[in-house]
Amino acid sequence: MKRLGGKTALITGAARGIGFEFARAYVAEGAQVAIADIDMARAQAAADELGGSAIAVKMDVTQQDSIDAGVAAVIEQLGGIDILINNAAIFSAAPITEIARKDFDAVFSINVSGVLFTMQAVAQHMIARGQGGKIINMASQAGRRGEALVAVYCASKAAVISLTQSAGLNLIQHGINVNAIAPGVVDGEHWDGVDAFFAKYESKPLGQKKKEVGEAVPFGRMGVAADLTGMAVFLATKEADYVVAQTFGVDGGNWMS
Ligand SMILES: NC(=O)c1ccc[n+]([C@@H]2O[C@H](COP(=O)([O-])OP(=O)(O)OC[C@H]3O[C@@H](n4cnc5c(N)ncnc54)[C@H](O)[C@@H]3O)[C@@H](O)[C@H]2O)c1
Repeated sequence: MKRLGGKTALITGAARGIGFEFARAYVAEGAQVAIADIDMARAQAAADELGGSAIAVKMDVTQQDSIDAGVAAVIEQLGGIDILINNAAIFSAAPITEIARKDFDAVFSINVSGVLFTMQAVAQHMIARGQGGKIINMASQAGRRGEALVAVYCASKAAVISLTQSAGLNLIQHGINVNAIAPGVVDGEHWDGVDAFFAKYESKPLGQKKKEVGEAVPFGRMGVAADLTGMAVFLATKEADYVVAQTFGVDGGNWMS
């Protein structure tokens, strides 16, 4: 039996990477999915790849009018939103002495304000509709610890964990479950960018950092996006109704080690 039959989901930053894999898994489980992304061309290609159960929606989570328009478009086209995955994020790295204010503002405006105000817009809809809902925020192992060169991204993901706790406690009275997933190191275009940052700051050849982090994962390799879909599906089902304000590590044991 399909576990998300009849459900609709809005996934931000789903034009590629983990968000796209979530969209694919949700469609396979019977959901209709809106792929919301700042990169509309890629979002449309992603929706086309998934067929008739997926639509593409232009959304920049740093802009309130874009969040509002995107959420309204999804409600109009899919009839409502049962599940939100706040997945859009960017990475940055620099030593403390070199962090630029504009990089801090860019990271926090996507990773933190974007999560909060997209969650707010969708929660308002879910409350007005009166059918509850599921909200899943993408945190990171980076939000559970500091990293010498990754202060801003780590702080942004710690904020996601904290927002998940507060929103989870505030919204459960409306039957809305808010929880988060904290991945470890997941191969893909995002990590190509991370690798390039470390190549610069640790004077490593490109690809070296990726190799090192993969070997350090207790499971024995880097994650792939498909490693995360089981948790993302579970948290969207009725089986997760009693799960509130939690952040789940899905990281091959990486953070624990
Ligand atoms: N890849 C990893 O190793 C890893 C580890 C831990 C946590 N995460 C988290 O998982 C999530 C997905 O990661 P990923 O590896 O797939 O990232 P990714 O960089 O491959 O994809 C991010 C997507 O977000 C979109 N985006 C960027 N800015 C946006 C904006 N302002 N509005 C809307 N969309 C925007 C991009 O266009 C892109 O499609 C992120 O929250 C990330 O922080 C990733």
